[in-house]
Formats: sequence, C-alpha cells, structure tokens
Amino acid sequence: MTEKVRIGFVGCGFMGQCVHLPSFHRLRNAEIVAICDLRPRLARAVARRWRIGKVYTSHLDLIEDDDVDAVVEITNKFVHAQIAIDALEAGKDVFTEKPMATTSSDALEMVKAAEKNNQKLMVGYMKRYDPGVLKAKEAFQSLAEHTEVTYARSHLFGGDWICGAPAEERIMTDEPSPKIPARYPDFLPKDREPLMNHILEQIHDINLPRYFLGDPSEVLFSADQPGSLVSVLSYGDFSLVFELGYISADIWDEQLLIYFRNGWVDIRPPPPLLRNVPAKVHVYKANGDHAELLPHGSWGWSFERQAEHFVKCIIDDEEPLSGGVDSYKDIVIAESIMKSMIEGRPEKIDFELGSKNR
Ligand SMILES: NC(=O)c1ccc[n+]([C@@H]2O[C@H](COP(=O)([O-])OP(=O)(O)OC[C@H]3O[C@@H](n4cnc5c(N)ncnc54)[C@H](O)[C@@H]3O)[C@@H](O)[C@H]2O)c1
Repeated sequence: MTEKVRIGFVGCGFMGQCVHLPSFHRLRNAEIVAICDLRPRLARAVARRWRIGKVYTSHLDLIEDDDVDAVVEITNKFVHAQIAIDALEAGKDVFTEKPMATTSSDALEMVKAAEKNNQKLMVGYMKRYDPGVLKAKEAFQSLAEHTEVTYARSHLFGGDWICGAPAEERIMTDEPSPKIPARYPDFLPKDREPLMNHILEQIHDINLPRYFLGDPSEVLFSADQPGSLVSVLSYGDFSLVFELGYISADIWDEQLLIYFRNGWVDIRPPPPLLRNVPAKVHVYKANGDHAELLPHGSWGWSFERQAEHFVKCIIDDEEPLSGGVDSYKDIVIAESIMKSMIEGRPEKIDFELGSKNR
C-alpha cells in the first residue's frame, strides 16, 4: 500500500459535497485524486473547489485509473451495487453509502465481488462510529455481564437532519439530476415500493440495533399505515420493536432503547449532519448500586470517524466495522419485514436466501 490511500470519489451531490468530501479531504493518510459525476459541469466545479486533479463522467473510466486505490461511492441507492461491483472487480477497495443495495441478491453480489477480489467493502453506517454510541456499547457490555436483555425498541421519526449550515457550501448547476431506474426485489408489488423505499432510506435503525444485539431470527409481525410502520423482530428470548414514521420538526427524533432485566441503555443519535455532537446516552442500572449514568462520548462527527475507519482498514488490512458481509443482513431483514407484511404472517429471516435466489 502506498503511503496515502488514493481515493476516486464518485457522486458529488448533496451528501458527497456536504459530508464525504470534507470528511475524506481532512485525512492525512488519504488523498482524493479523482472525482466523477454523471453531471460534467458539476464534477468539474467540485473538482476545482477541492483541488482534485482528475475528473470523470463515468465510474467505468475512473476505476481504470491506476492512480486510484479505493472508491468512495456516494451516488444513488439504485446504482450503489453496480458501481461497487465494477470497482471491486477492478481491484479497488470500496466505501458505499447506505443502503448498499435495494435487493438482497444485489447486496450478496457485492459481498462476493469483494471476497473474490480480496478488497474491502464498507457501508456508510456512520452511527456505528459515533463517539456516544461507542460509550453506549461499553455500558451495554457491562450490563450484559450481569443481566439479560428483555426488550428493545428502535424508533425513527426523523425531523430536521440537515441542521442548516452545510447546504450553503454546496455547488449546484442547472444540469438535471440523472434519471435512475428504480430497482426493487421481484416479490415486491408495485404499491409496496414506497414503503420499501422508506425502510431502505432509514435502514440505520435496522443496522444500529444489530450492532448491539446481533441478528434477529424472525419477523413476528409487521403492519403499516400511511407514512408509518411497526415491525416486531424476534431474538428468541426477547423482541425488538422497529417503529418507522415521519415528523416535520426542527428537532431530530430517533432512539434505540435496550431494556435489561435490571436496567436499560437509552441512545439518542444526533441529527446526522450535526457536526461534533455525539449521541446522547442514558444508562440505568438497578442491580446493586442503583446508578443512573449519562456517559458522554468525546466531541466528534460520526461521518469523519467513519472516513478515518475506512482508510485505516485499508492500510492495516482490517475488516470494517460496517463491512459488506454484515451490512448485507440489513437488506435481508428489510425484505423479510416486507414479506411478513404482504403475507400477513411471521417470516423467518434467512440470511442465505440471497444465494438461493441467484
Ligand atoms: N448516511 C446517511 O445518513 C445518509 C443521509 C442522506 C443520504 N444518504 C445516502 O447518500 C447517497 C447520496 O445521497 P445524496 O442526497 O447526496 O444524493 P444526490 O442526488 O444529491 O447526489 C447523488 C449524486 O450522484 C450522481 N450520480 C448518480 N448516479 C451516478 C453514476 N452512475 N455515476 C456517477 N455519478 C452519479 C448524481 O449526479 C448526483 O450528483 C444515497 O445513497 C443516500 O441514501 C445517506
């Protein structure tokens, strides 16, 4: 590996410019050497602002560039899989925004391409890198030594996730957004696509509970009303209730609450684009010391930590905390929730299903 990881950056829209370009640009052990967007004027203007030498309008050209070691791909959920697979096949490590794919079979193809080519594949689950979430994980492990989980709740209604400032920094052109065909699992009826889209957009709240609790085995129940969804995922001895909704608000409404027999860990992630403010954590321990704790993560932005982690994994040859194999499971769970809802019955979660469907 060269001294610096040389990055080819694909997709300079909102998240590309407001989040990932600044997060990767500040790293001393990485350099953004090439940029790509289907919108040529936008790509050129963004390259000028960030002093990036090479500009492409097709990721296929960018991945042929020998100066590119790794691809950071911030485009659109319907093309993450294709771009990632092309880059992995070209021998590049890949960071892709979430959701990694919109079908489990596409996600599985990504995993296989990473394994076949011995490249890193990491998915943008930045909440796993939030300093407050790391504190919550320590508290969770300490509680889990003495008592068992009895119930969990993952709740996301959203609100203002942008927090004002970054939009002002963004370059925009009058080039139209590319028309990208939607791509959903074959079993999904057309009228269920908006709900699947909602789940995929908020897939963090399937992923984050898994970071603490591991993998659920079954979807016991799923039901929706316009704009909201409730799903109950079984962990054998306890359930995780997954609540998805929508609120128009200045604040951000998201919570992962894990109950133990003798206490709880309550995690409130910040609005995603709020910089340097970690998740709020509240821990209650009822056994012995009856303590109520508010562990505070260090100031830090999850997206910056995430970028550091990707580059470190490449340099140190480590599996990312939000690697492809692990992230694939979230897409399987999203599909299982939809199947349970469509069939109106419990649905076993089969993490091998993708391979059978190929
Ligand atoms: N981590 C989070 O919390 C979070 C929050 C918001 C969005 N996202 C994800 O970030 C991604 C990007 O979202 P966004 O809001 O920046 O979208 P956007 O539409 O503003 O930007 C996407 C850019 O990619 C370009 N593009 C599309 N297809 C391309 C292709 N084949 N090759 C090259 N360029 C291509 C578009 O021209 C556009 O400039 C999405 O996957 C979205 O789900 C993640």
